[in-house]
Amino acid sequence: MVQRSKYKVTTRLVHGPQHSAKWDFSHHVVPPLSSSTTYRLDSAKRGARGFTEFGRLVRDVGEPPVYIYDRLDEPTRSILESELADVEGGEACVTFASGMAAISGALGSVLVQGDEVIAHPTLYGCTHSLFENWYPKLGLGVKRIALNDLQAVRAALTEKTRAIYFESPVNPTLELIDIGALRKLADEVNAKRKPERRLLLFIDNTFATPFGQRPLSLGADVVLHSLTKNLGGFGTEVGGAVIVPKSMLASLLLYRKDFGAILSSKAAWAILVYGLPTLALRLKRQQHTAKKVATWLEKQECVLRVVYPGLASFPQKELAAKQLIDFDGDLAPGSMIYFELDVERIEAEPFVDEIARSAYSVTLAVSLGHTKTLIELPSTMTHSSYGRPGGAAVRLSIGLESPSDIIEDLKSAMNAVAKTSPRTSAKRNGAAKPPKSAKP
Ligand SMILES: Cc1ncc(COP(=O)(O)O)c(C=O)c1O
Repeated sequence: MVQRSKYKVTTRLVHGPQHSAKWDFSHHVVPPLSSSTTYRLDSAKRGARGFTEFGRLVRDVGEPPVYIYDRLDEPTRSILESELADVEGGEACVTFASGMAAISGALGSVLVQGDEVIAHPTLYGCTHSLFENWYPKLGLGVKRIALNDLQAVRAALTEKTRAIYFESPVNPTLELIDIGALRKLADEVNAKRKPERRLLLFIDNTFATPFGQRPLSLGADVVLHSLTKNLGGFGTEVGGAVIVPKSMLASLLLYRKDFGAILSSKAAWAILVYGLPTLALRLKRQQHTAKKVATWLEKQECVLRVVYPGLASFPQKELAAKQLIDFDGDLAPGSMIYFELDVERIEAEPFVDEIARSAYSVTLAVSLGHTKTLIELPSTMTHSSYGRPGGAAVRLSIGLESPSDIIEDLKSAMNAVAKTSPRTSAKRNGAAKPPKSAKP
């Protein structure tokens, strides 16, 4: 048997496992797609054994499990889970029907009534809504604290705090959270706690993907993904994943069994066969394009501020150099750009409406990490749950198109809807451009 671990991650993602204790497919070059809701049990004893053992097995070691019913465990999904655990450098992975199912499941399998979560103020809109609209009804406390302010985090911690929750880079602002600093703080807290009440760090790594950041190696306990984004990569599958230490696996599997939000084997197969093998390739191309687009955006009169970790103006460059590192050890600034328009020169809504009307290489749509470049307005779309409509922020997810086409489409839309304000005409007459701020 070939020793897989001596190969680079990029190669492992392309070839996947040649064999899995989860399923014998040693003569397939591509893992087969399993699709059976239920499994022949041979005997009552075997059925009983399957139920007793479920949730206790640590994945992909020893004997194949006794498969019983798709919602408990299933080979194609399980092979994807082993691959995701491997690429994140984690011990185990449990996939879910969506990113939100993964987030609510990971937290739900740990928290009990009365527990508190400290969460960063800016999060994906539905995660914000989960914390603000649902957790109070479940008797779970949530404090929203800027997580790079360690003093504030320390002050907010109580005996009840069980989880610190964040995204890094943050959706949509691309702020980075210092994972190592939070690890130190959690270690201090945990030195005085029983193991079963450990303070845990949960990070949503959707924006960076494991190609661009492996949070477990930086000190996180639990890594979350929306597989719908760059891990799926083609915009055809919805899914989520949680990477956990073995100690948390059984509870998470039992939670998923009873709450029921499983990833379908068909979606798992597509992510395993198309998404993972092309992850590094897509990300490298998207980053190459994103740098060009961000650099171009920064020079535009109607753009006040551009945030992209690959720009010299990125305010957290040092932290990016520590955290956003690809499989080869290079900076991985990612495929997402956040920018703010100067509303005196251009309004966000007519700008994206013009994109929707006339652009071919840029699509007005939510989601991200797609082969196609997607643009959206967070305040009224992905982050509308914050209830702060308006504003001039735009989120751009770079796809695989030619960089010059994306720039041309953005330029045409800007030109079509730019206002002829006094400042614009001054510039047109050769006046100097005011300096940009580069605050996070
Ligand atoms: C950072 C982040 N986390 C989680 C999610 C939720 O994922 P899903 O749509 O797969 O439920 C999203 C969706 O946009 C996201 O951007």
